[in-house]
Amino acid sequence: MTLTPQQLATTASEEGSATALANPNIALVKYWGKRDEALILPWTGSLSLTLDAAPTTTTVRLTDTPDDVVLLGGRPLEGTARSRVTRFIDLVRALADRDERVSVDSHNEIPTGAGLASSASGFAALALAASTAFGLDLDRRALSRLARRGSGSASRSIFDGIAVWHAGHDDESSFAEAVPAPGLELGMVLTVLDARAKSVSSRDGMRRTVDTSPYYPAWVERTPVELEEMLAAITRADFTAVGTIAERNAMRMHATMLGAEPPVRYWGPASVELLDLVANLRGDGLECYATMDAGPNVKILCRADAVDELAARILEAQPHIGVIPARAGRGARLITSEPGGSAGEQTTEGAR
Ligand code: DP6
Repeated sequence: MTLTPQQLATTASEEGSATALANPNIALVKYWGKRDEALILPWTGSLSLTLDAAPTTTTVRLTDTPDDVVLLGGRPLEGTARSRVTRFIDLVRALADRDERVSVDSHNEIPTGAGLASSASGFAALALAASTAFGLDLDRRALSRLARRGSGSASRSIFDGIAVWHAGHDDESSFAEAVPAPGLELGMVLTVLDARAKSVSSRDGMRRTVDTSPYYPAWVERTPVELEEMLAAITRADFTAVGTIAERNAMRMHATMLGAEPPVRYWGPASVELLDLVANLRGDGLECYATMDAGPNVKILCRADAVDELAARILEAQPHIGVIPARAGRGARLITSEPGGSAGEQTTEGAR
């Protein structure tokens, strides 16, 4: 959290201003490929775990400046990164039927653009803060649809714990929702092998895969089956099945990318070393499974009560890397000042 209680007290209570916090999510059944780039409609549904670590905190204020001002980590965004945010704000302005400019002040507690889900937490927080600042009171489904327009995976960070994003066929029908998972306590250790921004954005990587990989049709055919298997495994609280399906699905996503022209490859030697380590730890009786996204950093799924042991075992084997231990976390929410002046999360749900 980078805002002081005093800043929050002034921001969150003012008319035309809101501060929201959202956590990243890591997909256990991946989203890879859009059938509609403008609306961000995916070819297939996906499913993820929202984490309790590495949030984005975003304040949106209506201003009388001639243009929107967009800050990330205190620095003005420029070029495509800025226009991605201002185009998203245009959508919120249209939805609210308002035309004021805004200032956006966003802080990530996770390296930006390194395949560690910063666009998911970023657009989930922005959707909630911007819609609230413009006086909209969106329910969770509408908020998920809005966040999707910023970044597909952001549609899932609206929700606590496990969320499924239904692919849908139009703007209305493509949204995420929470998946109840009684008896299934998941944990995850994120490894930070390389915190630099990736050279191929997930947006470009997925476009190239859809356009050129001969394996992509198999991905589109197979993923709905895997999503159903995953939902059934969650209902049974069958951790072994959840982990096995998640690891296999991640490998299949990377296989479709390798079939693209030119190939899209996000992982490197250090990632492969970690994949081996995960297999060895599992052989030793510490049940864990690997997943990877649009970057070299391997994320390792385990039972919630095994997170600390897993993080320690990873550091023992690879003392030079960074680890972020996490468990299931909460979805996007507004934060505001509490009576007595201290900063806190809203007690009444920020978004219904
Ligand atoms: C590999 O949601 O970042 O993390 O919709 O173009 O913004 P855009 O893509 P984004 O893609 C995430 C891809 C992934 C898998 C996943 O999170 O499901």
